[in-house]
Amino acid sequence: MKMTDHELIKLAEKAAEKAYCRYSKFSVGAALLCSDGTVFTGCNIENSSYSLTNCAERTAIFKAVSEGFTEFSAIAIVGGADGDLARPCCPCGACLQVMSEFCSGEFRIILTDGEHKLDDFLPKRFEL
Ligand code: THU
Repeated sequence: MKMTDHELIKLAEKAAEKAYCRYSKFSVGAALLCSDGTVFTGCNIENSSYSLTNCAERTAIFKAVSEGFTEFSAIAIVGGADGDLARPCCPCGACLQVMSEFCSGEFRIILTDGEHKLDDFLPKRFEL
C-alpha cells in the first residue's frame, strides 16, 4: 500500500517521541521512505559533548543505509521546542549534505507546511 505524506508525518511525530534531547529540549523526528516503500524512522540523539549530537534525519538515513537501503524517495521531518511540532522544521546543512549523497534534487522533503524538493534547499552540492 502506498504511504501518504500525512502518514509519513505521523510516523515522524511518533519518532520524535523517542528524541534524546535533554540539553536543547528540541525534539526532532524523521520518517524516511525508501523507493520500495520501506520506512525508516529516526530521532535526534544529543550528547553532553554537544558536537556529537546526531540529527533525526541522519539517524533515519544511517539506519537505512546500514540495513542495505540506499534508494529513497521522501523524508518527513517534524521538530520543535518542548514537544510543539507544528511549525515547519527545516533540515540542517549537514543533513542536506548527507541526503545529497544518496538522493537526486527531486527527493521530496515533507514538512508541516507541505512538500519541498532537495534542490530547493540545496541547489548546488559538494561532490568529489
Ligand atoms: N536537529 C535535528 O535533529 N535535525 C536538524 O536538521 C537540525 C537540528 C536537532 C539537533 C539537536 O538535538 C536539536 O535539533 C537542536 O539543535
